[in-house]
Amino acid sequence: MEGLQTPRLVCMAVTPAHFSEIFSLYQRNQALLALLDHEHDPAHLATRFVRKANVPLGGSVRQLSKVVLFSPDQTKIRGLCSVYYGYPEPHIAYVGELFFAPDAQRMGLGRELYLALEAQVRVRSMQAVRVGVGLRNWNALRFWIRLGFVHITGMSGARDFTPQAYAFLELEKNCTP
Ligand SMILES: CC(C)(COP(=O)(O)OP(=O)(O)OC[C@H]1O[C@@H](n2cnc3c(N)ncnc32)[C@H](O)[C@@H]1OP(=O)(O)O)[C@@H](O)C(=O)NCCC(=O)NCCS
Repeated sequence: MEGLQTPRLVCMAVTPAHFSEIFSLYQRNQALLALLDHEHDPAHLATRFVRKANVPLGGSVRQLSKVVLFSPDQTKIRGLCSVYYGYPEPHIAYVGELFFAPDAQRMGLGRELYLALEAQVRVRSMQAVRVGVGLRNWNALRFWIRLGFVHITGMSGARDFTPQAYAFLELEKNCTP
């Protein structure tokens, strides 16, 4: 995604210099983070994001793209995104994370970025995009379903209902013309 541009966003490869702004972005979403997964400490998440961790087993870091989403004048970080091109199969792009700052949400930026990503995925002759969504993150579920992610490819997580239990739905959109 590095270099990808939309009318309101510029994607730049993440570097350790972005740590404090990414930390702040996660911190401002902390109430939501607690609903999403066991690991929701903003410092840990920011460290993981800048380190380019999360390569699937047997995968290559070259296929992992982690970007910071800037405003067009490149002064303000609006969000972050990570995509692995080729997981779990070579023709599938997997969105690992898509996160906007609270003051950048519900402005159509997510939709704008996703449509640019989907166009890029087609150029690479890939056929589908997949994403994992926390089941309690109903706004994100609404976002992905509205974009056409209507094929359920998996479900994981806790079997018992407890306030600290987490579960995830994996959704896919076919991108072939
Ligand atoms: C989920 C997220 C990526 C969506 O991006 P966004 O830029 O806010 O979404 P958009 O403005 O492009 O919205 C597109 C559609 O998604 C749905 N949607 C997005 N956010 C929503 C919200 N908070 N409440 C209800 N619907 C929402 C709506 O259907 C919306 O269309 P509409 O405004 O015409 O009704 C963004 O809100 C975000 O970063 N949230 C916090 C982190 C997160 O949950 N990430 C996703 C992890 S899988």
